[in-house]
Amino acid sequence: MPTKKQIVDAAHALVRGELVAMPTETVYGLAADATNEAAVKRIFAAKGRPADHPLIVHVRKGDDLGRWAKRMPSHVAPLIKAFWPGPLTLILKKTDAISDVVTGGQSTVGLRCPAHPVAQALLDAFAKHGSGIVAAPSANRFGHVSPTTAAHVASEFGALIVGQASDKSSKVKHPITLLDGGACDVGIESTILDLSGKAPVLLRPGAISMADIERVIGVAVSTREGAQLSDGTLPRVSGDRAAHYAPRTPLKLITNDALAAEVDVLLAAGKRVAVLAFAAKPKVKPSPVGVGVRNLRPLVWIQAPTKVEDFARDLYASLRTLDAAGTSMMLIEAPPKEAAWEAINDRLSRAAVGVGIVTRAGANSGET
Ligand code: TXA
Ligand code: MG
Repeated sequence: MPTKKQIVDAAHALVRGELVAMPTETVYGLAADATNEAAVKRIFAAKGRPADHPLIVHVRKGDDLGRWAKRMPSHVAPLIKAFWPGPLTLILKKTDAISDVVTGGQSTVGLRCPAHPVAQALLDAFAKHGSGIVAAPSANRFGHVSPTTAAHVASEFGALIVGQASDKSSKVKHPITLLDGGACDVGIESTILDLSGKAPVLLRPGAISMADIERVIGVAVSTREGAQLSDGTLPRVSGDRAAHYAPRTPLKLITNDALAAEVDVLLAAGKRVAVLAFAAKPKVKPSPVGVGVRNLRPLVWIQAPTKVEDFARDLYASLRTLDAAGTSMMLIEAPPKEAAWEAINDRLSRAAVGVGIVTRAGANSGET
C-alpha cells in the first residue's frame, strides 16, 4: 500500500494537472482533475482514446452530487445507500461544472464512488487542495485489456511512469504517478446504469447485477438494446463496441465438450496453445513443435476458479498471462450462460471479437 506521503504527492500531481494511475476495487484507473480540461485531454492522449468517448468521474464518499449532476432522479438515493462506495456508475444529467471534454460532448455525466481505500484517500487529499473529483477511465491503452495490478499499468504506460525501472519520466513532459494498491478485488469494470432518461437502462453489466439494482429501486431495468435515450439516440459507450477488452493472441470461446479435441488438433499441427478452462490441465504427449519453439511449452493452461467472483477477479490477469505466452491460439472455455455470469460473458465475447476471430457463439469479427 502507498504511504501517506505518496498519496499526498499524488494529490499534488493532480493539482498540477498531471495523471495519476490509481487502484480501484474494479480495475486501475488513469486519473486527472476532472475540472482541468488540459489534464483531462492528457488522459485521451496517453490512452489513444477517441475524444468522443466519455470518461467516468470519481467522487469522494459523501460528496455533494448536486454540484456535478442536476435533476437527481428518485432512484439515486437508494442506489447510493445500497452500493456506494462500490462498483456502480450512475449516468445523470450534468451541470455546467462538468466539461464537455470529460463527457465527450454528451449532456450526461457518469459518476462513481470507488470503494478502494487508496482511491478514497487520494480523493480526500485532492479535495484539500483541488476539486476533489477525478475523471478516470481504465488505465490501459484504448481497446486493450483493463489492468488489475500496478504491474499491468506499468506494462501499458512503462516509460511514462515515475520511478519505474524503465523510467524516462524525467524526459517526458507529463509523467504518470502510479499508486500501487495491490490486486483489484472485483477485477472487471463497474456496472453502468443510465438514469438520465425516463426509465433506467443498463449500459454495461458488472459485479452489481441488474437483479441487484431492481431489488433496490423496485422497477424494471432495461438493457441498452431494448432502450433508446429520450432524444432518440443511443449513448456512446466505448466498452459497448463489439470489439473491446482484447488480447493480441487470436481468442476463441469454446464449449467444454469441444475443448479437448480442439487442443489435440492444434498441438498435432505443431501449434502452441493457451487455455483458460474450468478443467485441470490434461496430460499431453510431447508434440512435434517447430524449430525455434522447442523450449517453449506447447500447452499453457490456466485452471479458472468456478465461483463467479473469483473468476472475475482473476480474469484480466489470466488473459494477460496467456497473451504473453505468445501462442498461436487462445482457447477459453465458455462459462455458463446464466445471469450471474452476464458481466463475464459480456467481456469474453468482446475480447473474442476484438481479435477478429469468429466464436462458436457466432459473433462477427470486429475491429481491434
Ligand atoms: O470500474 C470502472 O468503471 C473503471 C474504474 C477505473 O473506475 N473505469 C472504467 O472506465 O471502466 P472506462 O473509461 O474504461 O469505461 C467507462 C465507460 C465507457 O464505456 C464510457 O463510454 C462510459 O463508461 N461512460 C462514461 N460516461 C458516460 C456517459 N455520460 N454516458 C454514457 N456512457 C458513459
Ligand atoms: Mg476501459
